[in-house]
Amino acid sequence: MDQSYETLLLNVDEAGICTLTINRPDKLNALNNQVLEELDEAVDSIKENYKIRGVVITGAGEKAFVAGADIKELSSLDPVSGERVSKKGQAVFQKIEDLTIPVIAAVNGYALGGGCELAMACHLRIASTNAALGLPEVSLGLIPGYGGTQRLTELVGRAKALEFIMTGRQVKAEEAYEVGLVNQVTEHSAVDEAKSMLTKIMKQGPIAIKNALLAVEEAGSAKGFESEARLFGELCGTADFKEGTGAFLAKRKPNFSGK
Ligand code: COA
Repeated sequence: MDQSYETLLLNVDEAGICTLTINRPDKLNALNNQVLEELDEAVDSIKENYKIRGVVITGAGEKAFVAGADIKELSSLDPVSGERVSKKGQAVFQKIEDLTIPVIAAVNGYALGGGCELAMACHLRIASTNAALGLPEVSLGLIPGYGGTQRLTELVGRAKALEFIMTGRQVKAEEAYEVGLVNQVTEHSAVDEAKSMLTKIMKQGPIAIKNALLAVEEAGSAKGFESEARLFGELCGTADFKEGTGAFLAKRKPNFSGK
C-alpha cells in the first residue's frame, strides 16, 4: 500500500512494516504545521490499518532525520499561539508513543529540536554514524516544546538532560548511544537496521508486544505495577500464551496467531 501526502511518504511492505518518511529534504525535513497535520493523519491511518505490525520513521535525503520545528513558522509565535503550537506538537508525538505496535526512529542525520523530540517519541532509536542529535532551542530563546524536556529526562536522567538542554549542544551518534538516547548505532542504513529489528520483534507474540508497550508506558506512574499485573494476567488467557509455552515445552518454534 502507498498513500500520498505532500510532506510525507508512507509505504507498507508485504511483511506489514510501515515506513513513514518526513519528506521536505530541501528544508532538512523541518516540521512545519503541514508536516505536523499530515503526521497526525498518518498516525491515525496507521492505527486503523490492522495489516501494519511495526513502523519505521525516518527523514528523506542523506543529511537529516528532521532538523527541528520550522524556525520560520516559530519566529511569528506569540505567548498564546506558542502554547497552542507546543500542545499540538505534544499531542501528535504522544499519539506516536501511544501506538501499540513498535515504532522505531531511523535517525539518518540531523535530529535536532523537534526532530530529536520526534525520535524520542518513538519506542526505539537506531542512529547511523553520521547522526547528530540535540535540543538547541535555547539558542533560539526557547525551550523544547514537543515533549523534549520530559522525554529526554526520562531517557538520560535529569543531569544529562539539563546539560543537553541548557548548552543546546549536538551529540554525535556514539555519545547518544553511550548516554542511552539511542539504542543502536549502525554504519549501514538506519532504516534497514530498524526493519531488521522490527522483523525480530514481529516474531514474538503480537499481543505480548502490545501489552509490553502498554506496561512500560506506565513505568513510574502510581499504577505501573498494578497495570503490569493486569496486562500479564490478560496474556495468560490468550492462545499465543498457550502456543508460546507449549512450543517451549515441546522443543519447537512457536507459531503465534495474534489471538
Ligand atoms: N527550520 C526551518 N528551516 C530549516 C531548519 C529549521 N529547523 N533547519 C534547516 N532549515 C533550512 C535552512 O534554512 C536551509 O534553507 P534554505 O536553503 O532555503 O536557506 C535548508 O534547510 C538547509 O539548511 P542549511 O542550514 O543550509 O544546512 P547546513 O548543512 O548548513 O546546516 C544545520 C545544517 C542542521 C546545522 C542547520 O540547518 C541548523 O542549525 N538548523 C536549525 C537547527 C535547529 O535549531 N533546530 C531546532 C528548531 S526548534
